[in-house]
Amino acid sequence: MITIALLLVSTAPIYAQGDAKNGEKLFKANCTACHALDKQLVGPALGGVVARLKADQNLDTDWIHKWVKNNKELRASGDKYANEVFEKFNKTEMQLFPNLQDKDIDDILEYTTNPPPPEPDPVATPVDGAAAGASGEDSSTSKIILVSLLAIAGLLIALMFKIGQLVKLQQSEELTAANARNAKSFAQIYEKYSVVGKIILGALAVFAFYGFWNWLMWIGVYKGYKPEQPIYFSHNIHAGVNKIDCQLCHSSAKYGKVSEIPSMNVCMNCHKMIPEYKGKYLEPGKDRDFYTGEIKKIYEATGWDEASQSYTGKTKPVQWTRIHNMPDFVYFNHAQHVVAGEQAIISSHNKKNPDNKIDVVCKACHGKIDTMNVVQMANDFTMGWCIECHRTTEVDMTNGYNQAYFSGLHDKLKKQYPSSNGKITVSAIGGMECGKCHY
Ligand code: HEC
Ligand code: HEC
Ligand code: HEC
Ligand code: HEC
Ligand code: HEC
Ligand code: HEC
Repeated sequence: MITIALLLVSTAPIYAQGDAKNGEKLFKANCTACHALDKQLVGPALGGVVARLKADQNLDTDWIHKWVKNNKELRASGDKYANEVFEKFNKTEMQLFPNLQDKDIDDILEYTTNPPPPEPDPVATPVDGAAAGASGEDSSTSKIILVSLLAIAGLLIALMFKIGQLVKLQQSEELTAANARNAKSFAQIYEKYSVVGKIILGALAVFAFYGFWNWLMWIGVYKGYKPEQPIYFSHNIHAGVNKIDCQLCHSSAKYGKVSEIPSMNVCMNCHKMIPEYKGKYLEPGKDRDFYTGEIKKIYEATGWDEASQSYTGKTKPVQWTRIHNMPDFVYFNHAQHVVAGEQAIISSHNKKNPDNKIDVVCKACHGKIDTMNVVQMANDFTMGWCIECHRTTEVDMTNGYNQAYFSGLHDKLKKQYPSSNGKITVSAIGGMECGKCHY
């Protein structure tokens, strides 16, 4: 009797067939682009979806399995609710997941039914990306320059004063006793200290040259560059708070040479259904009306009329300001880094920065974009920066791409670069050759 009661209590959750931990992982990887547990995004909120569909539609998990694997097929079969919900969401196509196993879907449903307690509120730690790291170095360099300029100015004033005295001496008919002493002592001082003076002047000249050189080297470096954009689009709110995957918007990063800013259609996939900002997160000095106003700009740009839920045909293209932009003579390919180099870059970054680990390859170069409200350049994107990483990142000789290209070469490379202790860095596979990066 007691055991039965205990059993009943412990199985009290409506649905307990899966592993919520694994479910959470799968949900984040496959579903968060369009679903949240507690609010509608592109698709409906999925918290408690099993109970809801059972209560409202008398559908069981079998139906959900079919829907998740291939909702298109389910609709085509004439299923009533599948077609209803599709209509309700303006015929937005949900992605098909033919590769998810029944067990995976059960795990996801376990997670949507019994999610673990939420993580601490992101509002508590609003960070603005790379700002801290970026400014430190600059301010110490400018301090050095400031001090040296002050020193030079001081020396010039002292010299003018002395010269002024000398000129006065020449013009006066008689040297007063005091002035005579003064002139004599100046001559003596000059003789005594001329060597020291020359050394000081020499040092200052070297200093000034160093400053000039540094200034030259900084031309074309825009680390921290952070322009204002026509729509206030926050990566923190999208990629951070709402955990939208980078590649949902920058999908060509994986396949193409460039990574591209998403078109307005991509925004509308979600914002047809999200006409206003209701999030908890607010930046200091901004309110929900501000964000909502920015969302309306998407409608203005695409000619979307909210009242009639249709496009008017009057569009107004948005001109995003390009932030990262290599000179034309440089060849940079995202796919090479995001696909072939992904594991090598992530593990090398995490080894070098144990306190600042990354999970997404993009962050190795672009910094923690998912914490930035306004994108800024997190690195200086110079030739030295590319080379430094190629010199120190071990390539993953086991990935398919490299295996195909470099099979048999591995041992030869090891012999050729004995100083690297058998480690093969990007430089060994051609990452230092001028022609690889320059047309
Ligand atoms: C590309 C966007 C997208 C992705 C990714 C996505 N969905 Fe959906 N989902 C939708 C939309 C939109 C709907 C509403 C129906 C429609 O328009 O087809 C929906 C509906 C559903 C429904 C029906 C819910 C209800 O209340 O009727 C379930 C269940 C569901 N999705 C589960 C999932 C799961 C599980 C995943 C991840 C494995 C997932 N979806 C990934 C867009 C998406
Ligand atoms: C919801 C869509 C969306 C998501 C998700 C998203 N981005 Fe963006 N991204 C944009 C838009 C729009 C811009 C242009 C406006 C701007 O600069 O803020 C942009 C700009 C950028 C830029 C600057 C491009 C330039 O002009 O040089 C980088 C770098 C970038 N994103 C990286 C990322 C990374 C890394 C992630 C994932 C952590 C990510 N983005 C997630 C939409 C998105
Ligand atoms: C995958 C879904 C998705 C896509 C794609 C998407 N957004 Fe959003 N957007 C959201 C969500 C979720 C919010 C937060 C809504 C809330 O919390 O009430 C949001 C909020 C916003 C806001 C208000 C907050 C802020 O960032 O200033 C703006 C503006 C915005 N989106 C612009 C865009 C633009 C421009 C694009 C296309 C480049 C875009 N969104 C693409 C889901 C999306
Ligand atoms: C190895 C460093 C590196 C990695 C990793 C990387 N990027 Fe980039 N990214 C760059 C460089 C360099 C540029 C400038 C390219 C140019 O101007 O031709 C750039 C430019 C961009 C741009 C501006 C548009 C363009 O294509 O020029 C976006 C958006 C962007 N990256 C997004 C991403 C996303 C999303 C990821 C992860 C999927 C990513 N990047 C991974 C180095 C990197
Ligand atoms: C965070 C580290 C990192 C940075 C920064 C970086 N790269 Fe790379 N790069 C790699 C890795 C890792 C590979 C090797 C990928 C592979 O396994 O094939 C690579 C490969 C390459 C290759 C192909 C080399 C070959 O022999 O096939 C080129 C070209 C290249 N990078 C250009 C650039 C340029 C241009 C920049 C600067 C704008 C840059 N990279 C910045 C890590 C980086
Ligand atoms: C890993 C990629 C990479 C390799 C290898 C490389 N470069 Fe570059 N180089 C760059 C990038 C990126 C820039 C642009 C830097 C900028 O815009 O600040 C550049 C800029 C230059 C410039 C113009 C400098 C300036 O300030 O405008 C010259 C000249 C140059 N490289 C010559 C070479 C030579 C010679 C080699 C071979 C020894 C070489 N590069 C190898 C990536 C590379």
